[in-house]
Amino acid sequence: MSLYRLDASIRVDGSHSRAIADIVEQEWRSAHPDEPVIRRHVGVEPIPATAWATAVFAGYTPEESRSAEQNAALALAATLTDELIAADALLFAAPLYNFGVSQHFKAWVDMVVTDPRMAAGTEPVLAGKPAVLVTVRGGNYRPGAPGEGWDHATGWMRRILADVWQLDLRVVETEFTLVGVNPTLDQFKELALEPRQSAEEQARRHGRALGAAEAVAAAA
Ligand SMILES: Cc1cc2nc3c(=O)[nH]c(=O)nc-3n(C[C@H](O)[C@H](O)[C@H](O)COP(=O)(O)O)c2cc1C
Repeated sequence: MSLYRLDASIRVDGSHSRAIADIVEQEWRSAHPDEPVIRRHVGVEPIPATAWATAVFAGYTPEESRSAEQNAALALAATLTDELIAADALLFAAPLYNFGVSQHFKAWVDMVVTDPRMAAGTEPVLAGKPAVLVTVRGGNYRPGAPGEGWDHATGWMRRILADVWQLDLRVVETEFTLVGVNPTLDQFKELALEPRQSAEEQARRHGRALGAAEAVAAAA
């Protein structure tokens, strides 16, 4: 039994997505005290910006004509995919940046889907694997708020993880993480408490489910 965890925050200290993902991981850990966690910190150790294009063009190049750089890019895509296939449960933590998906998370997804096992039209190799996505936003995007409709990240991440890769996905979301940081949001101090508490509760629940789902899958 192993857990794969990917963090896309560009910071370590003070990261809300990491803190909530830690709760998920702790719950998984209580079911699997001695099992390994494989980590990718793509926000602070990014996938090289040129790797994706190199891997894409390597795919169009006959094997014997590929450059060393192309072979390295394909090897990286294969390693990233191996990590997902080998893990029994998956945990992703990604903030909203500039109303969109973290570029580091996107670069990682782009690389993974260059691997022939993950290409469009192939049998989804990750189908049914239990997974949790933790996503955090500094502002407020709930229905009726001025930001409604401006979160262009969560829908995309759900599409990839749940619809394209067909993971058995649970999502933990929280908002208002910039309350207390950005003074223009001070008026929302009270309002910010509830989403955080419910995200932490959801993280505990989904973390327990992740550990249990994995055990069920292994027994099947
Ligand atoms: C460069 C940058 C851009 C951001 N853009 C947005 C944004 O468009 N909308 C939003 O709600 N929060 C935005 N945020 C706030 C982050 O989503 C928020 O601080 C979140 O908690 C970051 O994740 P972390 O706490 O795990 O590091 C941005 C933060 C940074 C650093």
